[in-house]
Amino acid sequence: MPLFLDVYDVTGSDKFLFYLLAERENYMNISHKGMPTFDEHYTFVQSKPYEDWRIIEDGGILRGSVYLTHNREVGIHILKAYCGMGYGKEAIDFMEKKHGLPIYANISVNNPGSMAFFDKRGYRRLQETWIKDGGDSGSGDGPCG
Ligand SMILES: CC(C)(COP(=O)(O)OP(=O)(O)OC[C@H]1O[C@@H](n2cnc3c(N)ncnc32)[C@H](O)[C@@H]1OP(=O)(O)O)[C@@H](O)C(=O)NCCC(=O)NCCS
Repeated sequence: MPLFLDVYDVTGSDKFLFYLLAERENYMNISHKGMPTFDEHYTFVQSKPYEDWRIIEDGGILRGSVYLTHNREVGIHILKAYCGMGYGKEAIDFMEKKHGLPIYANISVNNPGSMAFFDKRGYRRLQETWIKDGGDSGSGDGPCG
């Protein structure tokens, strides 16, 4: 069973979260476009932006992170090397048990893997958000997300 450690109790969690961010592909996200500097990232982490922010640890290895915003939106990111091992499922179960429902998931339309994941966890499509910003976030359909 993985542990869900409070980000603010884990030494070096800011570095691990920065690594997770760097591993993230553009298509996986709608909230985060460019890579921040480490200082920007550190300031963000220290601002305690989320209601609950956890590092997923198993067997002494950091596997990913999960957060819940003050608006009850969940965000999960498992390191590529550990995708498909059940950590995402455990992370959702953890947040649902701790905080109850409803929980929202904002998923990029370019991230079908993430849609399939949330569909399997019993989530349903609620709305579509459209944007005009001149950008192209690309698309992906890999085994991770
Ligand atoms: C999406 C993500 C959180 C899933 O976590 P995971 O640990 O790989 O998923 P799990 O191993 O817990 O899988 C749980 C179920 O979802 C399914 N699933 C997971 N990823 C999937 C994918 N890419 N395509 C289809 N199904 C998928 C699994 O097959 C499994 O199904 P089962 O319950 O029938 O066995 C993870 O791949 C990830 O971090 N992706 C990158 C970041 C991202 O896109 N985050 C979502 C935005 S909030």
